[in-house]
Amino acid sequence: MNINAHNLLNNTLIRVNLMEITSRIPGFYNMSIEKKKRHIIELLHLEEEEAQLLLGEVSLPEEIADKMIENVIGTFSLPLGLGLNFLINNRDYIIPMAVEEPSIVASASFMAKIVREAGGFKTEATDRVMIGQIQVVGCPDFNEAKEAILREKEMLVNAANDAYPSMKARGGGAKDLEVRIINEGDSNYSQMLIVHLYVDTRDAMGANIINTMAESIAPVVEHLTNGKVYLRILSNYAVHSLAKATCVVPPHLLESGEFSGEEVRDGIIHAYEFAASDPYRAVTHNKGIMNGIDPVIIATGNDWRAVEAGAHAYAARTGQYSSMTVWSKDEEGNLVGELELPMSLGIVGGASRVHPMAKLAYKLLRVESAKELAQVIVTVGLAQNMGALKALVTDGIQRGHMALHSRSVAMAAGATGELVDVISEKLIEAENIRVGYAKKLMEEYGR
Ligand code: MEV
Repeated sequence: MNINAHNLLNNTLIRVNLMEITSRIPGFYNMSIEKKKRHIIELLHLEEEEAQLLLGEVSLPEEIADKMIENVIGTFSLPLGLGLNFLINNRDYIIPMAVEEPSIVASASFMAKIVREAGGFKTEATDRVMIGQIQVVGCPDFNEAKEAILREKEMLVNAANDAYPSMKARGGGAKDLEVRIINEGDSNYSQMLIVHLYVDTRDAMGANIINTMAESIAPVVEHLTNGKVYLRILSNYAVHSLAKATCVVPPHLLESGEFSGEEVRDGIIHAYEFAASDPYRAVTHNKGIMNGIDPVIIATGNDWRAVEAGAHAYAARTGQYSSMTVWSKDEEGNLVGELELPMSLGIVGGASRVHPMAKLAYKLLRVESAKELAQVIVTVGLAQNMGALKALVTDGIQRGHMALHSRSVAMAAGATGELVDVISEKLIEAENIRVGYAKKLMEEYGR
């Protein structure tokens, strides 16, 4: 393929073509890794440098890694797969997923194919307003302190913006402020006043912006409240930065082997009810959702710990830890799935613009804002949950899992090259997917 030829194309023309890109790539799964790469390079008109990154072996050069964290002795790679078939708000998305667990990418792509036949996913998102917290203890009168802060609200919001003027210039910045008094009348913990600074961080995750703003207004807060400020930090409980995905699937699309679509639909709803009412199940159910979310967060260079922490807290917002998704049936008997989560992420700054593979991930995704990325990510979470529940209420998870797991087992037994597939198939045939048995088979092949 002549990659340079693409560079000669008119930019506008490329943009128009990119909007028409489909994420339906029949047979992609069966292509060799080289062929898959070539296909994507051609499909997305990747620049020479990006193509080389994909074709080469090193995804994160050590000199970049060395600047990212401390005490670097190397890098740690994960497989990067593509979530396919995703139709979201009538637009196709090819979704990069960095993850080690077999079956995640296949299952998400399979569910996206089913939902695609039903018209695709629909998503929405709130504005991206993140929260900065300032903790004040020891106020002589907490109510008076609260009043003092609220009286000076405008001045404090302006002062926060002065500490990070570029944010306001981009249409974002500090917008509002609220005050909470916590632990009133609680003998276990100190009473404290918490200032919440609300900041529109636009396309940035916002940790640096918010921490800078909170630190800069803290002395004024201390002065106004006559208390002592300790913490000044972003909250990852991003409840004003929510994204939601929905799908509506007619039962005939859910048919699976001897299971009717209605049986699968009802099974998924019962599985949801189980997770909604039992934390032991909810944790595993939600882990399955994060199976889809984390790989995209990682591939796009975002902070998966921040999103994980916010998502689990949101799942406990009623006071009981519960299911992140909601599954129900509409009047026509369709299965309806919903997932809403706080999304503490960005598309500018941090690793998202430093890590070469993360940069490439944006090229694949073609998202234009953090809000759009958040919507794509909750969609993958919803698809992943649908895939796990569909498997659990039909064949069980093991059949599909073990088939894919068998390749790792073959490699753990020392198989390389073509022998990986040969041994893996023998393990599946024998329904004995264990390293011990794989080693025995290897001996039969003289290894
Ligand atoms: C495994 O990684 C995820 C599942 O356990 C999720 C679930 O039980 O819903 C299959």
